[in-house]
Amino acid sequence: MASLGQARVRMGMIGGGKGAFIGRVHRLAAALDGDFELVCGSFSRDAENNRRTGALCGLSEQRVHGDWQALLATEAQLPVDRRMQMLIIATPNHLHVPIARAALDAGFHVMSEKPAGVSLAETRRLAETLEGSGRLYGLAHTYLGYPMVWQARDMVREGRIGALRKIHVEYPQGWLADRPETRGVKQAAWRTDPASTGISGCMADIGTHAFGLAEFISGQRIATLCAALGIHADGRQLDDDGDVLFRTAEGASGTLIASQVCTGEENALKIRLYGEAGALEWRQMEPNSLIHRVLHAPQTILRAGIDQPGLGTEARHRLRLPGGHPEGYLEALANLYKDFAEAIRQGRSGTAEGVPGIEAGLRGMAFIEAVTANQAGESKWTELDIDPSIQGGK
Ligand SMILES: NC(=O)c1ccc[n+]([C@@H]2O[C@H](COP(=O)([O-])OP(=O)(O)OC[C@H]3O[C@@H](n4cnc5c(N)ncnc54)[C@H](O)[C@@H]3O)[C@@H](O)[C@H]2O)c1
Repeated sequence: MASLGQARVRMGMIGGGKGAFIGRVHRLAAALDGDFELVCGSFSRDAENNRRTGALCGLSEQRVHGDWQALLATEAQLPVDRRMQMLIIATPNHLHVPIARAALDAGFHVMSEKPAGVSLAETRRLAETLEGSGRLYGLAHTYLGYPMVWQARDMVREGRIGALRKIHVEYPQGWLADRPETRGVKQAAWRTDPASTGISGCMADIGTHAFGLAEFISGQRIATLCAALGIHADGRQLDDDGDVLFRTAEGASGTLIASQVCTGEENALKIRLYGEAGALEWRQMEPNSLIHRVLHAPQTILRAGIDQPGLGTEARHRLRLPGGHPEGYLEALANLYKDFAEAIRQGRSGTAEGVPGIEAGLRGMAFIEAVTANQAGESKWTELDIDPSIQGGK
């Protein structure tokens, strides 16, 4: 949280025009602890929407730009103490890497939406750009900002469930059960179009969240997988559903289910991890509880709250309220921003402590390419194409 006299970090945004989903969530989350100030944007390709969004955000017309190239060029010309320091990218997927690379080249830190890009190859180029930039890159894996996700991760690390045997992660949604893309729902239109979403639909959109969560909590790397992707709605070109078997490099096995055609489901991300001595279970729609099962002992439910017993320092670092005062999705994203602000102020580069970075982006892209390759090919198992020096779980 900003302390007295500490200047707020000046941020810009691409995407997030009026009517968009995640851009506004970013603006709210970044504002929560008072660390950031929105100073410029290019919110929509629609000029009127762009202008209105800028006005709603309290920006002067000079800081609302017609396109992202103009935003970067104009901001880079401003005096150092006025220009933005960090750019949020909240556009459809195909723009993530081009904008992120240009922003890093222009000297700005980047907080990008996921997935990192539309291919592993372009994300590797982004990693190279980041390497020499002296700037930070954050990836908005929102679910990795939840306190009880960090609590679960620490309990696995501390050996509280023993050697890990199985991981089951599932992410069912139902909003694409019919075809909202034919009824003018913009979020559905670009997500089902390969030109803007990439080679995968559901797996790229939410499978990557499930993948990132599994690697983060387990601290293990998914090394090989067997995937069955499906297209359930007539006329779609990309997967709207998929089931994946996987094995980690460290020897655990598991399943990952991601679907956007599970009729009636909301945003039911859930993970269970089973070790030799116990198990953990966390559900995104009940994020303030973490179930801990222990061999031959009653199960306990750890509860979020700064005054709650049994929580470690990482979980407490991400809490603001006493128990019984629910924190949720906005606070989870705000936690990524809190740590990102700290890293900017400390002059760090690369990945900010506590915030998913380029490694998470590369691994997510390797996952998307492995599931689509496995689906298309004949082999039972496909290995993730990834530099072994890149660790999962970050
Ligand atoms: N982290 C999460 O939990 C989470 C949740 C939802 C979406 N997302 C990701 O966020 C991104 C956006 O998703 P969404 O659901 O908000 O989509 P959306 O369609 O609601 O919003 C996209 C916005 O980008 C704008 N845009 C498109 N092209 C642009 C351009 N060239 N210049 C400026 N603005 C442009 C659109 O006008 C719109 O305002 C996607 O990559 C998605 O995967 C992440």
